[in-house]
Amino acid sequence: MRVPLLDLSGQYTALADPIRAEIDEVLAGQHFILGPKVQRFEKAVAEFCGSPHAIGVSSGTDALLAIFMAINLGPGDAVITSNYSFFATGSCVARVGATPVFIDIDPVTYNISPEALERYLSSCRRDNDGKLRTAKGDTVRAIVPVHLFGLCCDMNRITEIAGRFQLSIIEDAAQALGAEYRVQDQIAKAGTIGESGTFSFYPSKNLGAAGDAGMIVCREEAFARRLRHCRQHGMEPRYYHHFIGGNFRLDEIQAAILNVKLPHLDEWSAARRRVADNYREEFERLGLTERITLPAEPYRQDGLTNHHIYHQYVIRAPRRDKLREHLSAREIGSAIYYPVGLHAQECFRYLGYQSADFPETDRAARETVALPIYPELAREAQRYVAQSIAEFFA
Ligand SMILES: Cc1ncc(COP(=O)(O)O)c(C=O)c1O
Repeated sequence: MRVPLLDLSGQYTALADPIRAEIDEVLAGQHFILGPKVQRFEKAVAEFCGSPHAIGVSSGTDALLAIFMAINLGPGDAVITSNYSFFATGSCVARVGATPVFIDIDPVTYNISPEALERYLSSCRRDNDGKLRTAKGDTVRAIVPVHLFGLCCDMNRITEIAGRFQLSIIEDAAQALGAEYRVQDQIAKAGTIGESGTFSFYPSKNLGAAGDAGMIVCREEAFARRLRHCRQHGMEPRYYHHFIGGNFRLDEIQAAILNVKLPHLDEWSAARRRVADNYREEFERLGLTERITLPAEPYRQDGLTNHHIYHQYVIRAPRRDKLREHLSAREIGSAIYYPVGLHAQECFRYLGYQSADFPETDRAARETVALPIYPELAREAQRYVAQSIAEFFA
């Protein structure tokens, strides 16, 4: 049996007719840039997330970059983020000339460790001008927690720490659209807990476009206005540029497609959770839970529906690389997110980090593997995956 890591064909087949009709409408209307479909999608995402503002942009990467440009982040500034993320989280900080500061992860959730974050911030100094500075003298401007694999970071602790150190929070929620988290007696969606949040609609994301697309949500109207200018070269009105932005516009055809898909997102997230539950059941039945570590669900008891949206289903396994070879021989897809921590990327060598600074990142990079997950994944296919893993450890 062939079980790919991801198969989007079932989702497309089910929605092909309305998607084609929406695309035709854009082609007939000839309004290709920031037209009514983009506006509709922004409104729908703002409502879905419970955010006052949503600004459509060209990708999850450009969402981060636009925010950093809009807050005038630059040389002499530092931004603190997780060491275990997709490259863009760190690279966008560096692209505007600021310094990314990487923090090790929590070994259970793979998200930024609040303890390590607090330890790092406590090692910074508060200067007479009131600014928090790193040992190298950079001004710490913001924290970027990354909700990895569709599970929110420990945001109550991170918010408390950010408040104490007077730092703003920009959530990288690229993998977590719809994921929920309990803030006191309220249920908050990923991306809306900090001052701003970013999403990616890269095709393999839970809500995927047919190309690149992204979104920013934010609280403040003035900041939303600045971001709207930023995505059009800092321009307002036409050909008058107040600051340097970029071409970060969300494409009208992508917005048209995403408008068709968004109403299905919650049912897809529920189906992904069912897949995760099935995996747990199979692994327990096969006596594998002593061998492999299943994804943690720290918020399952918090009365949340989307306590995890399983963008990826990631386990820890001994002899991980051999296991992948075994799965591959049985035509089962798998992937490593991520094989190298950001601190160890060649392009970040100038930051001077050592692997010893990030024991949990290094361990996760060595031990974790993502298994097939998508809403339509059949129970029989999951049984085959679990059985194949059991064979490997037999
Ligand atoms: C955590 C994280 N941040 C940022 C991005 C960048 O998003 P995009 O690929 O849409 O530029 C991604 C997407 O892969 C991601 O997973």
